[in-house]
Amino acid sequence: MPPPIDAESFTEALDRAVRILRPAKKVAVLTGAGISAESGLATFRGGGGLWEGQRIEDVATPRAFARDPLLVWRFYNLRRANLATVNPNPGHRALVELENRLGADFTLVTQNVDGLHQAAGSHNVLEIHGALRRVRCVGCQRVSDRGVEVLPELPHCEERGSLLRPDVVWFEEALPDDIWGRAVEAVQACDCFLVVGTSAVVYPAAGLIDVARMEGADVIEANLEPSAVSTRVNILLLGPAGTSLPELLKRMKEEG
Ligand code: OAD
Repeated sequence: MPPPIDAESFTEALDRAVRILRPAKKVAVLTGAGISAESGLATFRGGGGLWEGQRIEDVATPRAFARDPLLVWRFYNLRRANLATVNPNPGHRALVELENRLGADFTLVTQNVDGLHQAAGSHNVLEIHGALRRVRCVGCQRVSDRGVEVLPELPHCEERGSLLRPDVVWFEEALPDDIWGRAVEAVQACDCFLVVGTSAVVYPAAGLIDVARMEGADVIEANLEPSAVSTRVNILLLGPAGTSLPELLKRMKEEG
């Protein structure tokens, strides 16, 4: 259970966050599954999480796919089907507003594969763990966007005949080089790094918090409960991101 939210300390944390975020020239954001929780998508860890009752190594590793592609595709087809039923929430929309204020000086790095940031209207999004909507041929490596289309239980490449796989990053796999490189650059360049809805236990993504700190950026975390990095951030906004982020943006507007 998350700790009860103390309204007074939340307001005080918000005030401090506004004082940091408002004058920031460059802002980078890292999001995790928590920002999509209020849209109705399960997070990974904790009660009711996707990894509860599901061994990661059975569905989210290259070895799992080689051993039992049908099992892996069942897991991902279910997640793809969920996408058709969900919409962005006020947390996603607050980040669109923040991007509108900053333009090219705003970068959103997401570990999420659900596409909800783009659906909300965010533009500068770096999907470091891939995207559920895309599939990739294991033969020719061609990537295609299949949206939320219902795929066969075991989909194959129309050109090559080889198996298709979800275009997501599995455990034991490297992150896409170019996208990861751009994420690191954006975090190195920012004055304020906002971390939202992630347990911050999966690397290299969680390492971005240390990159930001090493470069002297202020780090604001918005999370339902303290994460693995909460002791290393400047400000912790405890509460649902669908409330804390819009509140943060509202206060920024009030102050000019
Ligand atoms: P986790 O499930 O590990 O963490 C979700 C975080 O969101 C937790 O800290 C929750 O407290 C928080 N949370 C839940 N609801 C929230 C809300 N309404 N508002 C704000 N915070 C909320 O998910 P991630 O950290 O995203 O990787 O997981 C990281 C990676 O592990 C994923 O990208 C995925 C997974 O295995 C791969 O598949 C490669």
